[in-house]
Formats: sequence, structure tokens, C-alpha cells
Amino acid sequence: MKYNTIKKKFIFFFKKNKHKVIKNSSIINKDKSKLLFVNSGINKLKNLFINNTSYKFKKITNIQKCIRISGKDNDLKLIGKDNYHHTMFEMLGNWSIGEYNIKKAIKYAWILITKVYKIPKNKIIITVFKGNNKLNLKKDIITYNYWKKFIPKKRIFFFDFKNNFWKIENFNLCGPCTEIYIYIKNKKIKNINKNFIIKNKKYFIELWNIVNIKYLIKENKIIKNNNKFSKNYIDTGMGLERLCMVLQNKTSTYDTDIFKDIIKSIERILKIKYNTKKKNNNSFLIKIIADHIRTIFVILYDKILPSNNKYGYVLRKLIRRCLIYVYKYLNIKSPFLYKLIISVYKTFYKKINQKKLEYIKDNLKTEEFFYFNSIKKNIKLMILFFRKNNIKIINKKIILYIYSTYGINYFIIKKYAILNKIKIISFKLIYPEIEL
Ligand code: SER
Repeated sequence: MKYNTIKKKFIFFFKKNKHKVIKNSSIINKDKSKLLFVNSGINKLKNLFINNTSYKFKKITNIQKCIRISGKDNDLKLIGKDNYHHTMFEMLGNWSIGEYNIKKAIKYAWILITKVYKIPKNKIIITVFKGNNKLNLKKDIITYNYWKKFIPKKRIFFFDFKNNFWKIENFNLCGPCTEIYIYIKNKKIKNINKNFIIKNKKYFIELWNIVNIKYLIKENKIIKNNNKFSKNYIDTGMGLERLCMVLQNKTSTYDTDIFKDIIKSIERILKIKYNTKKKNNNSFLIKIIADHIRTIFVILYDKILPSNNKYGYVLRKLIRRCLIYVYKYLNIKSPFLYKLIISVYKTFYKKINQKKLEYIKDNLKTEEFFYFNSIKKNIKLMILFFRKNNIKIINKKIILYIYSTYGINYFIIKKYAILNKIKIISFKLIYPEIEL
């Protein structure tokens, strides 16, 4: 099933079940919280959950672009290393604002994944909140018992606060969640148990999170929300890229049709080949670029330009990560990212708005030129610094000095240290941006 069909079927299903379809909104989080970008579908809806008011639309659905690159949900370091985390993903969500309860939400999810998407039942496992004595939170028996109507109890597992309790960053809404996981290996599981799941973690993909937003955080305590609608506050989210991976029978989101054209373009432009089975530099590099270019695109699309603060800083960092990796592994020192924009655009929009496209490409190209030019100039200054000070050994202090004076990242310092026969004393990097 193609990603566009998967999206359509999701919206169609909830529309048929009387949900109001709302549009994907900007990825910029404009409220006063520290969160820069929208990191889940509920972000823009959260105000609807706090007032004791009844709304015209109590059942809502949408597909929201989410960025998880800062705050408690920061997946940046996982990109390129695993096959299914992304700095930006599309979240398929449905909400009940005082209308249906957790049972109904589970029923919707079950029908959709087993009857509409036809995911084999023996591939599914469920996690439920096991409670927390210290926080005075009860085991979620109601959810557990209800799941037993659909799935044998040996496939339902209790997990702790860390896994099965969801909070909205910088906001006081929270609650226990139940998650649907899919086993993506083409093998039958004989004896399923918690140990097997923990040992084979990378083959169990978290697909859908269903949260019962029935608590509030007040003065660092989790308390019951006494709002009269709160029993029926449901927030759900499922990652489109992961769903595509499952429905297209792949073991990596990068092998789905969402990434097909993007990866082809990267291969053509950088003259390298992607091999999903092999863990080599090229595959790592392609995954980083394929992931980041989508995030770069959506941030630029929302009229943010690269800069040294807030949103613009995140954008600049993503662009530089791509450029530095390509420089490190392929020795490429000229703009190339902007050439990929056309392949990204197509996965989000059918019609191409030429003006917008040119705006995005131009700004990206300018930033790439800016970076490569300044890096070339600064590398010369760094080499001069090595020679003038007769540096034979580079330690942590020198690395920090070079980074803060010339903006040169550890990768490049290392590369030129080797070329200039300078030894580097290894140390634990404390500032991730120096490392990348
Ligand atoms: N807000 C929850 C999450 O992000 C459910 O969508 O997992």
C-alpha cells in the first residue's frame, strides 16, 4: 500500500466515524513553552483539553508534521544509526475531547490496523501502564482487560512509567498510555515473553500510542483532572513512516516509498549507492541526509531562515550536519542539498508552487555557500594557528578554542590534524554540537 493511500485510508476511517478533519498546521510552536517545534499532534490542540467547556467538535483527526529535535523528545542522535527514528515525521492522530473513552479508542485502533490495513494479528503486541506506587498511580487494569477482548493475554505486557505514561512537554496534561507494537521480522514468534521483547527490541516497532489524558501535573505532582470531561480525553498518535514500513513489509522506513525518490536523488547527486543491508559510511550518510532534508524543507517552508538563534539555529545545525558529513566522507565542498528539494516537495504536495520552491531552494543554496566559504577561510586560519603556535598535540582545550574561534567542528579538526601530522589526545566530548 502506497503512503498516499495509507494517509487517505486513515482520514477516511475517522471521518466515517464522525471525526472532524483538521488541517496540518505549521510546525512552529508559538506558545510560551520552551518547545520550539510541534512534537506531536496534540500540541496545537492542548488548550481544548484544559477548559471545562464543551466544544463543537469533540472528535478530531488529522495528520500533523512533527519535529523531535529538542527537549525531552530529541531523536537527533539516533538518525542514521537506526532504521526508524526521524527528526521529522508525520503523525496520524485522533482525539476525543470529552466524547469517547479509552475502550472506544482501542476499538477504533484495532479495527483500523487489523481490518483496514490488515496487519496480521500475530505480529501485534500491546503494552499497558503497570502503575507507580511512589506517584500513587494505579495499574491500568481497565485497559488491560479490554485488550483481552481482541488479543490473547500472553501478548499484553505491563510496562512502567518511563514507557507507558505520556506527558506533554511544558504543559500539565498527562496520562497512562497503551501502545501497539509490531514485530517486523518475517519469522513466527514461538514463545513470546518480556525477555524476548527486550532482547529483540529493534524488531518490535512502536506503532501507535493511545493516551488517556486523565491527569494533570501541578506543582510537580501528578493529580487527577477533575474536569468533568477528563474521563473521555483521548490523545493518539501513529507515525506514518513506521506504518508504511510495516504495510510495505520493510524493516527500515528508508526503504518505503516515502524515501524512494529522495534517496535516488541523493545517490545521483553524490554519486554513491545506498544499501539497506550494509552498515557502511555511504548508507549512514544517505540516511542522515534523507532524514534531515525533509526536516530542513518543512522548516524553510514555514518561513524560518537559518540564523544563530532559536528556530533558525536548529535549521542551521541540520544543514551543517549534512554538509559536514558529506565533507568528511566524500570530500565534497560545494552546495548540493538544494538540488534535493524537488524530490522532497513531491512527497508532501501534489502540485508544485514554483515560487515557494524557488524561495526554499535559493535560501538553502545561499546557506550552503555561506558555510562552505566560511569553512574554507577558517580552515586556513586554523592551519596558520597550528603552525604559528607549533602545535604538535591537540587536547580538549585546543579543540574547544578552535571550535569557538573558527567554528570548526571536531570532524574537520581531526581531518586536518592527521594531514598535518598532529596528534589528538582522545577525550569524551562534552559539547555535542562540536561532535555534531
Ligand atoms: N501524544 C502522544 C505521543 O506523541 C500520542 O500521540 O506519543
